[in-house]
Amino acid sequence: MSRVHVRVRAPSNIALIKYMGKVNAQINIPANPSLSLTLQNLCTITDLEFEPASNFELLWEGATEAEGTTLRPMSLRERDRPKMERHFRRVLEYFGHPFDGRWKVRTGNTFPAGAGIASSASGFAALTLAISAVLGKKAAPRSELAALSRQGSGSSCRSFEGPWVLWNDQSTSSLESGFGPIRDLVVLVEESEKTVGSTEAHQRVLTSPLWNGRVDRVHLRVERLTRILQEADWQQLSRLCWEEAMEMHELFHTAVPPFSYWSARTREVLEFLKSEGAHQGGTSSGPVRIAVTLDAGPNVHLLIPEEDESVWREKFQARFPGIQLLSDGMGRGAEVLRIERGGA
Ligand code: PMV
Repeated sequence: MSRVHVRVRAPSNIALIKYMGKVNAQINIPANPSLSLTLQNLCTITDLEFEPASNFELLWEGATEAEGTTLRPMSLRERDRPKMERHFRRVLEYFGHPFDGRWKVRTGNTFPAGAGIASSASGFAALTLAISAVLGKKAAPRSELAALSRQGSGSSCRSFEGPWVLWNDQSTSSLESGFGPIRDLVVLVEESEKTVGSTEAHQRVLTSPLWNGRVDRVHLRVERLTRILQEADWQQLSRLCWEEAMEMHELFHTAVPPFSYWSARTREVLEFLKSEGAHQGGTSSGPVRIAVTLDAGPNVHLLIPEEDESVWREKFQARFPGIQLLSDGMGRGAEVLRIERGGA
C-alpha cells in the first residue's frame, strides 16, 4: 500500500435512553438497548497518515487544524491512550492488515473535554472510520463499522448514522421520526474532567439496589420512545427523557460506593427547568416543548425545537447570567472528508 492521508469527522451523540451497564465488558455488549440523537457540529476531526514501513509505528501528534474551526486537542490522557491503541490494532486485525507501516494520528474536538459531550463516542467513531478509509474499506456497511467501533467505545456505535439511532446488543439502526429540526442546547455547568470514568460507572451501577428491574424498564421505554418519535409528541418526550436521565443518575447516587457527577449548579439548573415544566412537557399555564437529559457529567442537555432556541437562551441568561451554552443540531453520522493517495 502506498502513502495515504485521510481526514474524517465524527459527531458525538446524546442518548435519551442510556447505555449504562454491560453484559460483556471485553467487546462492549450493553445490558440494555439505548436510543440517541446524533449531533452535527459537536464532533471529532481526525487526520490519519499512513506511510509504508516494515515496522508498525503509531504516533499521536496532537491536534488537527481544520479550516474555519478552532479545535481543542483531544485530551489523550495516559490512561486513555492504551485503549485507543488497542482499538487501532483491533481495526487493522479485523480488516486483515498486517501490523506494519508508520501511522500518524492528529485529532481534535470542536468541544471542550469533560463538557458532558461524549468525546469517546466521536473519538472512537472517527478513529475507526479513518483507519477503515486508509485501508480502502470506507464503503463497508455503516452497521459493520459501527459494530467494530463499539468494541473500542460502546456509545461510538451510535455515531455512524442518524439522527435517531437505536443500539441493541450488537447492532444499530436508524429510526423514523415525525419531529422537525431539534437543537441540543447544552448548559455548560462545568468544564472539569470526570472523576469517575465511564468504564467504572458501567461496573458500579450494577451494585445499586435500583439496578433491579432496570433492563425491563428500559425495554418498555424504548417501545414508548419509538412511538413518541413517530407521533412527535413533545409532552411524552419530555416525561420520558426526564425519567430516564434521573434514573441513570440515581443509579450513580445509590451505587456502592455512591458517586455523583452533579454540582450545586447542576441542581439549580434542574430546579429551574422543573419550574418551567421541562420534566413533564408544561405547567398549568400551558405546554412547553423541551426534553431534558444529562450524560455522565454535570452539564444539562435541552432538546428543543430549532425555532425555540433564542427563547431558551434568553431565559437562561436571565436566570443564570453569564452561563455558557453550546448548541448543535441533528446530524447523519460520521463521514470521510478527504482521501489523498499517492507516492511510494
Ligand atoms: O461509551 P461509553 O463507555 O463512554 O459509555 C457512555 C455512556 C453514557 O454516555 C453515560 C450514556 C450513553 O448511552 O451514551
